[in-house]
Amino acid sequence: MPKDISILESRIKELKKQRDAIILAHNYQLPEVQEVADYRGDSLELSRIAAKTEAKVIVFCGVYFMAETASILSPEKLVIMPDKHAGCPMANMLSAEDLRKLKKEHPDAAVVGYVNSSAEVKAELDYCCTSTNAVAVVNHLKDKKEIIFVPDKYLADFVAKKTGRSQGRGLAPDSQSQRTLITWNGFCPSHIKILPEDVKRERKFHPFAKVIVHPECLPSVVAMADAVLSTSQMAKFARETEAKEMIVGTEVGLIYRLKKDNPGKEFYPASERAICPNMKRTTQEKILWSLEELKEEVKVPDDIRKRAKKAIDRMLEIV
Ligand code: 13P
Ligand code: SF4
Repeated sequence: MPKDISILESRIKELKKQRDAIILAHNYQLPEVQEVADYRGDSLELSRIAAKTEAKVIVFCGVYFMAETASILSPEKLVIMPDKHAGCPMANMLSAEDLRKLKKEHPDAAVVGYVNSSAEVKAELDYCCTSTNAVAVVNHLKDKKEIIFVPDKYLADFVAKKTGRSQGRGLAPDSQSQRTLITWNGFCPSHIKILPEDVKRERKFHPFAKVIVHPECLPSVVAMADAVLSTSQMAKFARETEAKEMIVGTEVGLIYRLKKDNPGKEFYPASERAICPNMKRTTQEKILWSLEELKEEVKVPDDIRKRAKKAIDRMLEIV
């Protein structure tokens, strides 16, 4: 490790104490960020930590919707992002206005939204969900004929298959008993770079490896997996499985954590192209700067926050 990095690390540690701050890092963050984090995790874990921390300041190393979620759950805390421009393209694919229109078209539908969405969109939801619990949330609503599920069409496809629902923009007249998931055209630009031929190729090179993939992947890739998991579920799977080798179908940043936590095992990215540039914007320099200046604050206006919180609380009650 270069000398200056360790100087930055010790300065970050000092300032963290002075500011009464904790650093939360998503599993896709750069190794140098994971190294100074108090907690690493997936969206659900980081939300839970944000909800219960006693620290005064939360430094959120991830993308914007994640910091917003922390602010929704802990409004009395100062939530700061070392790089506020780290957005999630999938979250930006659906506006609150889009969702209000969809709700008007399906007035009887329950509305479930992936956590990868803006606070304004969350304020329109009945239930929030993450990749860990999307199936459980939709199963919880088993008596509802129509469920709007936004914005990720590929997560929706996975959930529809797992819960025995068809997908569409409404019930066909001859299938009134059909249980439908009404989807949106959102997707993750990083996960769709993983192709079935990538998995095939890696399987050929590593015939004994288990294939684990994120549900944001293409359905053709999901169909090839031994397990479909959120990023922290992958971390758990890697710890607990007897398998010594794994092909990992998600953003490449997770590999660092998997290797570090499991020194005796081998991990191969399904595709080196699956990189989320927004997740790579945060660096140690930016963390230090944000702790020095207590910037940049992420704060959700109170009216939106209260409505969005209801959808997140309902999710946390189920799981
Ligand atoms: P996880 O909640 O599984 O970490 O996923 C978040 C995400 O943005 C995946 O692209
Ligand atoms: Fe959004 Fe995809 Fe990046 Fe996750 S990996 S934050 S879904 S763009």
